[in-house]
Amino acid sequence: MSLVTTKELLLDAQKNGYAVGAFNVENMEMVQAVVAAAEELNSPVIMQTTPSTVKYADLAYFYANAKVAADMASVPVVMHLDHGSSFELAMRAYRTGYTSIMIDGSHETYEDNIKVSKAVADACHPGGVPVEAELGKVGGKEDDLDGGEGDPYTNPQEAAEFVKRTGVDSLAVAIGTAHGVYKGEPKLDLDRLSEIRKVVDIPLVLHGTSGVPDETVKECVKRGICKVNYATDLRIAFSKGVKAVMAEDPDVFDPKKYNAAGREEVKKYVMQKIMVVGSNGKAK
Ligand code: 13P
Repeated sequence: MSLVTTKELLLDAQKNGYAVGAFNVENMEMVQAVVAAAEELNSPVIMQTTPSTVKYADLAYFYANAKVAADMASVPVVMHLDHGSSFELAMRAYRTGYTSIMIDGSHETYEDNIKVSKAVADACHPGGVPVEAELGKVGGKEDDLDGGEGDPYTNPQEAAEFVKRTGVDSLAVAIGTAHGVYKGEPKLDLDRLSEIRKVVDIPLVLHGTSGVPDETVKECVKRGICKVNYATDLRIAFSKGVKAVMAEDPDVFDPKKYNAAGREEVKKYVMQKIMVVGSNGKAK
């Protein structure tokens, strides 16, 4: 199958009460692991890369990996730009062939966030590429940026107006999650999520999901989350596999040996999360 966009995937998820997992990938093995997990469970899947990841290599490297994986796969695969930090980066991802783009203007003022989100939506829509935006501030470190100060949660009425004025296809909401490793158990404002859902009729996105208990994620999906982002835990899983091989054989020097172990750990993790978000068996 060729790469697909998030448009139909997320609308189907919204209609049928499940979510699609969006997994951050950092190398070829993680791309292979995510797609292998999705194939084994007959699930659609979204892969995504942040600005720091595409700075490490380049959009073109990650796009090429994702394209090959999608071409060889029997399930729908999306390549998404996560936390697009500027109009220019969003456009570069669009031109590279990414099939879904996030513009993250959540660090700007409300009006500037509307301006940049609308500009990206207007530029991507003629080519059929859907756009995710963010309103409110997810805590922790978002790639290289801090979540920031002030009332961080998404205001439902603002969200409704934001969606109308920007024309974006999906919206990341701030309801108490944070990127990175949680110190205690995260407390999510689930009622706020339901309030947002009542007044916003496009797919909602949950960021900062590594470390959120599975039962809480399921409750979020019930209340309208259609895309669930996992990043930190995939990095931890990959490293766990690599470290185990190195601990067992400190003289190992073939990257294929330890990278394969990392790949296997990521695949196991992604399979478990696909079951949590409920997209197993939903590949069309
Ligand atoms: P975590 O690293 O907390 O899983 O967050 C992932 C994310 O939201 C990527 O945008």
